[in-house]
Amino acid sequence: MTNPLSQGLRIERKAPPCVIVIFGASGDLNKRKLMPALYSLYQQHLLGSSFATIGIGRTQMDNEAFRELMTAAVREFAEGGLADEDVWRSFAKQLHYIAGDPREQEVYVRLGNLLDELDKKTGTAGNRIFYLSTPPELYTPIVTNLGKAKLNVSPVRDAWVRIIIEKPFGYDLKSALALNEHVGSVFQEEQVYRIDHYLGKETVQNVMVFRFANGIFEPLWNHKYIDHVQITAAEAVGVEGRAGYYEGAGALRDMIQNHLLQVFSLIAMEPPVSLDASAIRDEKQKVMMAVRPIEHGEVNAFAVRGQYGQGTSNGRAVMGYREEKGVNPQSTTETYAMVKLLVDNWRWAGVPFYIRSGKRMPRRVSEVAIQFKEVPHLLFDRTAADRIHPNTLVMRIQPDEGITLRFSAKLPGQAVHIRDVNMDFQYGTQFGRHSPEAYERLLLDCMLGDPTLFARRDMVEKSWELLMPILDVWAADKPKFPNYEAGSWGPAAADEFLAKDGGRRWRRP
Ligand code: BG6
Repeated sequence: MTNPLSQGLRIERKAPPCVIVIFGASGDLNKRKLMPALYSLYQQHLLGSSFATIGIGRTQMDNEAFRELMTAAVREFAEGGLADEDVWRSFAKQLHYIAGDPREQEVYVRLGNLLDELDKKTGTAGNRIFYLSTPPELYTPIVTNLGKAKLNVSPVRDAWVRIIIEKPFGYDLKSALALNEHVGSVFQEEQVYRIDHYLGKETVQNVMVFRFANGIFEPLWNHKYIDHVQITAAEAVGVEGRAGYYEGAGALRDMIQNHLLQVFSLIAMEPPVSLDASAIRDEKQKVMMAVRPIEHGEVNAFAVRGQYGQGTSNGRAVMGYREEKGVNPQSTTETYAMVKLLVDNWRWAGVPFYIRSGKRMPRRVSEVAIQFKEVPHLLFDRTAADRIHPNTLVMRIQPDEGITLRFSAKLPGQAVHIRDVNMDFQYGTQFGRHSPEAYERLLLDCMLGDPTLFARRDMVEKSWELLMPILDVWAADKPKFPNYEAGSWGPAAADEFLAKDGGRRWRRP
């Protein structure tokens, strides 16, 4: 399969005729992300006229009511709102709705009939995407029912059927294996698109361009020059009314198992032999396999967890996690997690990767910081030398997307005074155009049959396998929570961890 990245044309591509069926259509994800993304693709003329959307949900409503609900959603959540009413009206005409319980087989009879009708009326050519945007307990029944109704294959020759599965993909290794097994009994692996919206972020995709389209960084990208790597996804928000889901998840499952391990694999992988989807995914998987397994007995030497108590956020007092609506007052769910990974291969021997994510941190920031080693011999005297810090390369995923290289420079004047300075690249000022939303790119990629930015079965399983000992040990031990204040950079134990691990310090971006 040719990857359009290699042609530099990704965004100019146009979707083929198809129908997207969204299970969980009255849910939050559809309103906030999917519908605005589809509308934006339509606005940019990237969806043809032979395109249709079918929403499926338990809420009783007809097509008109669904269109109204989606109009309100796009007005509220699309970037720029409902900027162009005419375009929206024309887009909204192709929205359809089926009210019903996706566990009931009769829903799929109605769905099959509507799909056939749309193929005839709209020219959607038998190409279909099923998007599972429901609570995860519905994934198995939906997949079973799609199979029973023979909707896993297209009735039209040479047409395709694909399924997009949202996170969480499993709750642990066992459930992820079972889900993969089940999905695999109904769909071929090449039909399955496990979505991870971090991979759709412009800055995450740029990791590969940065590493492999530039000659100067790759020679330094190894244990000879890099001391350690910090991968951070900090959020200022708390649990935001999602306690029902979050209580059973926690930061390790919610952010690290998927998003941050994906980012890690792009940073740490070897150069792929081509930009072909399987070449890239093979390399990502190879580096995951080189990660040193963490044994049950050594979890405390590799991971730290935390939960926020009361504190401040953006200057206002906020409650602790245990006081949030829907949260157990004795909850042991972690809202902060950090993990140290070691990669046992030639490139990374001895270089720790510290990965952390937390809610109610001082600000929202996701970044990868490559911390280079100190110079082998220091020429400058003590006063000057105290100010010398090793070089750092920071890839800012969000917000304020860009890349910064920090190095030392001489302060102008007679004496030698050294100070850190930054060389800064910012997407916003450099390109002056907005980055597409992650979901826009990923939906279009799926329509075009490009799975590069989706998680492959083996990688999902490997990432659960690596984290299972931590999850097991944490589940068995009662933590002393809360252990960090809302609005701080997480538990003191995480700072102590790095200090003990080679005298290092977490960045305070
Ligand atoms: C989701 C998590 O996958 O990612 C949320 O479930 C988190 O808890 C969100 O807030 C963060 O995404 P982003 O794009 O805002 O960094």
